[in-house]
Amino acid sequence: MPKHSDLKPSTVTAQAMGARDPTTRAIIPPLIASAPYERSSDGSYPGGHSYTRDQNPTYKPCEKLLAHLEKGHEALLFSSGMAAAVTVFENLPFGAHVVIPEYMYWTLRLWLEEMSRKGRFVLDSSPNGDLDALREVIRPGVTKLVWVETPSNPTCAITDISGTVEVAHQAGARVVVDGTIATPVISRPLELGADMVMHSATKQLNGHSDVLAGVLITACDDEDWANIKQDRSIRGAVIGPFEAWLLLRGLRTLFLRVAKASETAQQIAEMLVEVPNVTEVFYPGLALHRGHDVALRQMHGGFGSIVSFRVDGYNEASRVVRALRVFRNATSLGGVESLVEHRAQVEGLQTNVPEDLVRLSVGIEDVDDLATDLKQSLMT
Ligand SMILES: Cc1ncc(COP(=O)(O)O)c(C=O)c1O
Repeated sequence: MPKHSDLKPSTVTAQAMGARDPTTRAIIPPLIASAPYERSSDGSYPGGHSYTRDQNPTYKPCEKLLAHLEKGHEALLFSSGMAAAVTVFENLPFGAHVVIPEYMYWTLRLWLEEMSRKGRFVLDSSPNGDLDALREVIRPGVTKLVWVETPSNPTCAITDISGTVEVAHQAGARVVVDGTIATPVISRPLELGADMVMHSATKQLNGHSDVLAGVLITACDDEDWANIKQDRSIRGAVIGPFEAWLLLRGLRTLFLRVAKASETAQQIAEMLVEVPNVTEVFYPGLALHRGHDVALRQMHGGFGSIVSFRVDGYNEASRVVRALRVFRNATSLGGVESLVEHRAQVEGLQTNVPEDLVRLSVGIEDVDDLATDLKQSLMT
């Protein structure tokens, strides 16, 4: 068997890094539901596991594969993307100064704002991708963390990861990137100097909309990582073994799904630009996108499956979403089936996205069916 480092990531992923059951040599590793693991007479754990809140053998193949794909030191699965993200913030000292982007996953932003009102963090936000604005808000020697989300959900804003790392590291702050939308197929923030990557594995990593999961991948084994590991083991924000098993099954087709969805998303975005009642299209693969040049540098093999666009007002956005027949109106993204959402309707008064923004999560269906559906809903 060749070394994984000699094989292409798509090969390693399809074969789940050669994971198999060591006893039966089954090619698909088994689902191990057991919470406890037997000690030997000297009190040690010969199987390497003690209790599932700490580790379960079913997590391991996913964690190894995700660490390999991100070129990181180690990965840890969590019960959700939010659980993974919150663990990073909860391990900062009380009152820590953190910088977040203006546009980011809204539930995390709401939680951070709530926590900062309670004094847990001192929060500053800075426009996505604006390095001069970041230089203004960052406090050298004080700021602990710069959080990046690129592309951002749902505005598809692009942040220059290596530029951000340079500014943050000079100030003594760490950089953690929410790479959910890009996936490690398209960009690998650790290679660009980030300290940690986070994903909602609920999305394209699993790809089948039937698992809630999150993952953190660290560039190196340091004190922060040790604290995060201990935190997961103590609080038990762990994924269930069945979810971990499903996640590995989904991961095997990651490269195919990401390539197909990105190619279709590009075509949909180009089509939307030509539709008269679409006032703005947000997709990093479009030459007119503000972050296109940076996206060309740090995204490879596509620009992701999320396309957002604006129409003329809240009511029109709501009408367009209701008129779609192939895109299903539901919360989430990154599945094989295409979904749509009128974000302002979902986020309510607390939203900071334009009231007429419609977010598409492009799946793997035939592009003609998706394009026809959009045209009929927009042009009626
Ligand atoms: C970019 C991004 N980050 C994090 C999350 C949170 O992930 P989860 O729903 O798995 O908790 C989401 C969920 O939509 C997301 O879109």
